[in-house]
Amino acid sequence: MEINLDTKYINRCFELAQKGLGSVSPNPLVGCVIERDGIVLSEGFHEIYGGPHAEPNAIANATVSLEGATLYCNLEPCCHTNKQTPPCVKTIIENKIKRVVISNLDPNPNVSGNGVKILRDAGIEVDVGILEEVGKELNEAFFKFIQTNKPFVHIKLAQTLDGKIATSTGDSKWISNDSARKKVHEWRLKYDAVLIGRNTLSKDDPTLNIRMGINSKGKVPFRIVLGSIDKMNFSYKLFSDEWSHRTIVVTTLDSYRLATNSQLEQIEKNKITIIFADKQNGSFNLDDILLQLSKLKITSILVEGGKSVITSFINQKQYDKISFFICPKIIGNGISYYENDDLTLMKDAITFSETRVENIDNQVVIHAYSNKGNVCLQD
Ligand SMILES: NC(=O)c1ccc[n+]([C@@H]2O[C@H](COP(=O)([O-])OP(=O)(O)OC[C@H]3O[C@@H](n4cnc5c(N)ncnc54)[C@H](OP(=O)(O)O)[C@@H]3O)[C@@H](O)[C@H]2O)c1
Repeated sequence: MEINLDTKYINRCFELAQKGLGSVSPNPLVGCVIERDGIVLSEGFHEIYGGPHAEPNAIANATVSLEGATLYCNLEPCCHTNKQTPPCVKTIIENKIKRVVISNLDPNPNVSGNGVKILRDAGIEVDVGILEEVGKELNEAFFKFIQTNKPFVHIKLAQTLDGKIATSTGDSKWISNDSARKKVHEWRLKYDAVLIGRNTLSKDDPTLNIRMGINSKGKVPFRIVLGSIDKMNFSYKLFSDEWSHRTIVVTTLDSYRLATNSQLEQIEKNKITIIFADKQNGSFNLDDILLQLSKLKITSILVEGGKSVITSFINQKQYDKISFFICPKIIGNGISYYENDDLTLMKDAITFSETRVENIDNQVVIHAYSNKGNVCLQD
């Protein structure tokens, strides 16, 4: 019976945590429920980066004494002493909470388990690991970033039944239907940045913002374009809309030197950020780019194509997760999402782990993790 209640309230924590989508990164999504004798006394979640954590929010929302209550939280309460707000464990102890139930330990190896220890030392019963895998998936980007200091990379692509992401002329509007595209807009709320290549920029002139009826909370993700800056047209939306200061171009120094005065003026005027990267065998070193992006506090990236971009992330093994939207259309000759002339034997095929299949309005979506494993399961 107790296990079922633990599961129920931790699931509620996950629901509450997601209310922080789009406003808490680079912090994790955390929800908190406080219950006594089967009655929920209070709830809270981490609402905004820099704001109070979920536990003090839930405690502050309570209108009755919390003595003897159980506090549910999807992430281990913090025990830091180097911030302006008091550590959550102190607030929990002061409020005479009797039991704490947690889904995941803090993934930071330097502090993991310390919050639990302080609570136990204070005589509080602590249970850890309830719906642990669900909690890890919810905060998978945070887990990876805190453990590696590199952004979590999720590739998404929409393909036809014959494996194409665009027709032979480069037209790709639209392969997937509204329901699938709405899902991608939801993800844009979740990710710090969206990344495309220069050809997708010129073919699609995308805005890469959050629409389709989703409350963006005023957020526009960073919009990253890979390619030669001297070949970019600055009338594209990413460079000229009101969010151009959220656009980052990753290019080479050589290409920057070839840019015209007019292009340089546009970069300056529209506050576009430039990141320089070297090319090896015609391709950027993505590992280096991810490190540079992490310094801009970008903890997660949704890679939205096209073929060259996706191929390089796969070949350089610089992705964590991939979602294939397989749509019931065929178009014959067209652009595939992956090219590799060297791969000639099935035994060398790229495989994935932890595959999950979903049906979104008659489109099959396969979510999978890179075969280095779900980063969240490595700890
Ligand atoms: N169905 C879908 O899900 C989907 C999604 C996105 C795009 N698309 C379609 O895909 C097509 C575009 O694909 P594409 O392969 O032609 O182009 P792309 O990947 O969008 O862009 C290719 C260009 O980006 C730069 N680039 C990409 N990866 C790089 C790397 N690792 N290192 C250095 N530079 C890199 C290069 O620019 P420079 O040449 O300037 O160096 C390269 O020529 C379009 O038709 C678009 O509509 C479909």
